[in-house]
Amino acid sequence: MGSVVQLKKQINDTYSQLLNSVEEKLSFVEEKISYKLNSNVDLVKEMTTYHLKTGGKRLRGLLTLECSKLCGYSKGGRDINLAACVELIHAATLMHDDVIDGADLRRGKKTTNNIWGNQSSILVGDYLLSRCFEMMVDDGSMEILKLLSSTSSTIAQGEVLQLQHQGDTEMLEETYLKIISSKTASLFSASSKVGSIITNKENKFKDALEFYGKNLGLTFQIADDTLDYNSELKMFGKEIGKDFFEGKVTLPIILLNQKITNGEKRELKKIFDLKVRTNKEFYYVLNLVKKYEIIKECYKKADHYINLASNSLSIFQDCEEKRILKNLTSFSINRKY
Ligand code: IPE
Ligand code: IPE
Ligand code: MG
Ligand code: MG
Repeated sequence: MGSVVQLKKQINDTYSQLLNSVEEKLSFVEEKISYKLNSNVDLVKEMTTYHLKTGGKRLRGLLTLECSKLCGYSKGGRDINLAACVELIHAATLMHDDVIDGADLRRGKKTTNNIWGNQSSILVGDYLLSRCFEMMVDDGSMEILKLLSSTSSTIAQGEVLQLQHQGDTEMLEETYLKIISSKTASLFSASSKVGSIITNKENKFKDALEFYGKNLGLTFQIADDTLDYNSELKMFGKEIGKDFFEGKVTLPIILLNQKITNGEKRELKKIFDLKVRTNKEFYYVLNLVKKYEIIKECYKKADHYINLASNSLSIFQDCEEKRILKNLTSFSINRKY
């Protein structure tokens, strides 16, 4: 338990440092987003305002701002506009994702699909994406346009691939990595790389930031998926089991399936084949997760990507921005699982 608390604290501290580093720019990003989302259609305005006001860490936008700063971007507002773009892609993705997952809550508040229904949420998600594409065109760089538009299609493909493997307890770890690389890591990667593109850095720096973002994204999604089965966190009031009840197979289940007996495997499959899973089945799975020390295994995997992300920054000269980005990746080495 100590390790998780330590990890959360570290991430929180690092997040605040990141936020402080580009705070002023972030407020311009928020302004840009609200300006860009203005619409004559009341419902569009109402829903986009609601969705964006529910908060969110703005992690991807912050990555764009911080990586731009790391690469020496100072004059102009392209970093702000593009940070707004990546946040809009993220917002649209979440709006669609909550429809697919049938989610009622996000960031502790009702989802737009819960309030206004699926149809409006899909359409307004599309509206967010379209506005984002307008902004990308305004930026004028073909390289940026290529990167962000391909990222958007990669995310969609990741979500579809995930859907295809709904309830598939035999899913390969490789397939899981493909899913999270597409649905999550691709946007982290693009958000980071943008900084090196708008500063015309050499390819090796572009590659480094692309790789940094990708591995940070993989870690982020693995952590998110692992927390969903970390029963110790229940003590801290975090709701767990969301993925389980949705029938979404993630890393803890894949690693569990590799370790359990054939009898337990059959039971696990039966549970994921159910139309509706209850707490009874969840506790059965949680017990297996504990028995086979799966949480520890998941964090070990995450550690691998953390190291890759951290090492990829080594070609940048030491500076405050590099330190902040590096810290963002680091779990405590001494943590006990
Ligand atoms: C949520 O991402 C989706 C995942 C990739 C797990 P965030 O946790 O960055 O979402 P917000 O915007 O901060 O709520
Ligand atoms: C979020 O994925 C959407 C994308 C990363 C595309 P999840 O469905 O795993 O995340 P939450 O739990 O809804 O935030
Ligand atoms: Mg979801
Ligand atoms: Mg999740």
